[in-house]
Amino acid sequence: MAAARGRVTGNPAFVVGPVRRETFGAFVEHLGRCVYTGIYEPGHPTADDAGWRRDVLDLVRELGVGLVRYPGGNFVSGYRWEDGIGPKEDRPARLDLAWHSTETNQVGLDDFMDWCAKAGVEPMLAVNLGTRGVQEALDIVEYCNHPGGTALSDLRRKNSSDEPYGVRFWCLGNEMDGEWQIGHKPAAEYARLAATTARAMRMADDGLRLVVCGSSNSGMATFGEWERQVLSEAYEVVDFVSAHHYFENAGVLEDHLAAGVVMDRFVRDIVAHIDHVKSVRKSSKAVNISFDEWNVWHMNSPRTPLPSGDDWPEAPELLEDLYTVADAVVVGDLLITLLNHTDRVHAACLAQLVNVIAPIMTRPGGAAWKQTIFHPFALTSAHARGTVLRLAVVSPSFASPRHGEIPALSAAATHDPASGEVTVFAVNRSTADPLHLDVDLGGFDGLQLTEALSFTNDDPLWHASEQDSTSVLPRTLEGAALDGGRLAAELAPVSWSVFRLARTAGMTKGERRA
Ligand code: AHR
Repeated sequence: MAAARGRVTGNPAFVVGPVRRETFGAFVEHLGRCVYTGIYEPGHPTADDAGWRRDVLDLVRELGVGLVRYPGGNFVSGYRWEDGIGPKEDRPARLDLAWHSTETNQVGLDDFMDWCAKAGVEPMLAVNLGTRGVQEALDIVEYCNHPGGTALSDLRRKNSSDEPYGVRFWCLGNEMDGEWQIGHKPAAEYARLAATTARAMRMADDGLRLVVCGSSNSGMATFGEWERQVLSEAYEVVDFVSAHHYFENAGVLEDHLAAGVVMDRFVRDIVAHIDHVKSVRKSSKAVNISFDEWNVWHMNSPRTPLPSGDDWPEAPELLEDLYTVADAVVVGDLLITLLNHTDRVHAACLAQLVNVIAPIMTRPGGAAWKQTIFHPFALTSAHARGTVLRLAVVSPSFASPRHGEIPALSAAATHDPASGEVTVFAVNRSTADPLHLDVDLGGFDGLQLTEALSFTNDDPLWHASEQDSTSVLPRTLEGAALDGGRLAAELAPVSWSVFRLARTAGMTKGERRA
């Protein structure tokens, strides 16, 4: 029987918005081994003078990360940023209540800025609105962004950098809607604090891009009402509402592979809540989404329990999920979803970067390696360029017991008007059936297919390990072809693919007409 057909039509006239480097963000939290023995390990054979693991830095650059959120996460809601500056020997050890660990503060703000410069990424900082408030937020902004001549800016100059850091992105707390959050507040209380803090931070630096806390996931009982109350107070002084969502394979692969649809519905709902407030306020200002925590997280089958009782370890193994090929297909699909919402999702952070629910793993004193989810992220970041096209997609569907009828085909395409390159990303979410992909790119003339890669495996539950992280990699998709402006390929069940098309010299429509 012939494979079912999924049809995609793309035309340069139909555009969602620009490809943003901030969509390819990640997250470094003081949690488990993300910082200590993750990005930082003095004495490691590859460590530089500052203690940064150069093998990890290389992988971060290869991953193509544009933005990194720091220092949490739940951690930030009990954090005193001043603990992490100045001479390392003078920094205090503290209890980290969020992760029942001991925080040594051997890595802090100035160190992170140094790491960002070496990794070539932009920082996104979170301020503590759990146990702290307006004054501490103002202090850290002055420390980071004021040129000099004040106590805090001169302290930065003394500790590390003559030049201000010019940090643009700031999160006003973290997941303040969640009861697990230190200093969790009801919406009205958080709304007032976030708006007051935002207003004051803008008085110190009017170039800031501020993210107010939205909901911790779409299943929160307060989702929607939280956004309404928070934005009713803070709409005019913030730029983004945060969104967080983790996806899990709870045993039914069809449900797991529906993650892209679940994220798509969540984004549409948040946009509706934002625009409702905009309309009620008769505001001309746009507020967009910072999807600053997303990933697969096997929350219900943790490999390591949270420490408890008298045990307050330093950098314990926590949340060190191993990712399967199916998880990587889901991550590729979630990136497709984020790209397709680039008009309203202006920043996004894969949570997290190293060891903790991460694309990069390390052994203390030993190797660093790539998990499966590394591949779709790196390839999407490397090849999504220019503008995201608004595609028409027609697809067969399959039944997800939890989420209903789900289209088997998920696709996004980008077009770089400068180079003429078109890139198509496609996922076959079906666990059972191959899919014949038929992409009509007739609106683009003079293209040639330069590369077709697919990431899939007979066993979708294969995962990489320290011993074997290379036997399943993205491979050339045999048979993919471009003929008369139509791209055709066979997509295996549970697969993620990328197709790169370049302009044939002297063959564009515009040039021919001229
Ligand atoms: O990324 C792990 C945790 O998930 C973060 O600390 C928190 O913000 C979220 O609940």
